[in-house]
Amino acid sequence: MGMWLVGLLSVQGDCTLTIDKTLLSRVTEFAMRKYDGMDSTHGREHAEKTVRLALYIAGHEGADPVVCQLGALLHQYHPENAGLVDEFLRSIGLDPRRREEVVHCVQCVELDTIHLARTLEARVVFDADKLQTLGPFGLVREVAYRTTSLGADLREAVRAAMRLHQQVPKLLQTGTARRLASAASSIMEGVFQMIDEWDRLSFLGSGEVGLDSQLGAGRSPL
Ligand SMILES: [Fe+2]
Repeated sequence: MGMWLVGLLSVQGDCTLTIDKTLLSRVTEFAMRKYDGMDSTHGREHAEKTVRLALYIAGHEGADPVVCQLGALLHQYHPENAGLVDEFLRSIGLDPRRREEVVHCVQCVELDTIHLARTLEARVVFDADKLQTLGPFGLVREVAYRTTSLGADLREAVRAAMRLHQQVPKLLQTGTARRLASAASSIMEGVFQMIDEWDRLSFLGSGEVGLDSQLGAGRSPL
């Protein structure tokens, strides 16, 4: 088990300590197999942030921290692999109620599946994951992911990240996450405005500045 998770166990109080350590260690190991096969924006740091945010939100919303912690750890399997998570949790003997609730978190973690959520814990895990698409951190992360892993060009990646900033806050499920998102949004307003302004300065001819006409044909645009 990673040291950061041991640290979390010690700071979250008695509730979190009800997880059997061997079991948590096996879930972590299974979860890391997923993160280790992904790009750096979805690596172990993403796992850690999702768990920390989920426990933070759970604490403020009165959600079950054990289900939120396990759901956050396993969320990256995504709804299409929820069956695999279910199978794994059966194999390690997690009690059926918790297993069902954790699998439900995994099933609901996408933008197009969150409407299926019927538990507070699934909403918490969704929020913990999606908050990481917002704010300065979210912008950098989304652009890095889209350019390096999806092969998007830079402008397309920035525009997609900006669209997420419009879309995600409306889908957040808890008051705690909405408060965090609104702090991030107020910072990003000015940033996006500046990106729009820079985008309008086209150096290739059709924009307001139209430097091509000033530079003359055949010359490199800077
Ligand atoms: Fe994720």
